[in-house]
Amino acid sequence: MTALLFVHAFPLDGSMWELQVAALREEVDTVLAPSLPGFGGTPVPAGQPSLDDYADALAGSLDAAKAERAVVVGLSMGGYVAFAFWRRHRARVAGLLLADTRAEADDEPARERRAKLADLVRERGTRALLLQPPPWVRDGSEQWGRVRQIVGRQPAEAIAQASLAMAARQDARELLAGIDVPVAVVVGSDDRITPPQMSRTMTDGIREATLTVVPRAGHLANLDAPDDFGRAVRDLVRRVGGQG
Ligand code: MLT
Repeated sequence: MTALLFVHAFPLDGSMWELQVAALREEVDTVLAPSLPGFGGTPVPAGQPSLDDYADALAGSLDAAKAERAVVVGLSMGGYVAFAFWRRHRARVAGLLLADTRAEADDEPARERRAKLADLVRERGTRALLLQPPPWVRDGSEQWGRVRQIVGRQPAEAIAQASLAMAARQDARELLAGIDVPVAVVVGSDDRITPPQMSRTMTDGIREATLTVVPRAGHLANLDAPDDFGRAVRDLVRRVGGQG
């Protein structure tokens, strides 16, 4: 059985996919949007997890749902985890939707910023992130209230761990040419964190990739433009189905 597996962004949880899950459940039997370890009320890992550990947790979610393979939809950090999932469990990947994400690893300044963010939340708690809309919320977006609520529920330690796990992630560019399942790359036209140019480069590197630039959407394109996003997921599910 092929499932649809949504992987959330940082520092949110599986509930960011609420609309997509509700819409796609009518068409796909198994739709999963698990929260990564430590997020969404799941136990916070005892040590420092890696993105590989997150990927293995996703494999566990598929096992629990008795799903052998999945179309994996990862947004931003979820995309980084989708690459780790491809590295470790590629036989279970039927298709990939890479949204508002990038294949490049962090450079040194980015790693330092992530270490500082981990220190900040460990010292001052999750509320330190709630004072003003971050750059990953589109300017003027109505989503900040909802995003703020989701972020506010996450334990500071899970956020710190995820920040450091992202900093330590491997570069995924060397994977691109070997990805041989249908891929959809989706990006908000106003994404300031992973701007459309990064998605163009990623699309060019993958054999069977399409690119959708979603108008009037920022880094959280599924929240800013749920209909367009849902269409892109449906198109990919059809492409994957057409191969079977
Ligand atoms: C995310 O939305 O998951 C993060 O912005 C990813 C990142 O910081 O690179």
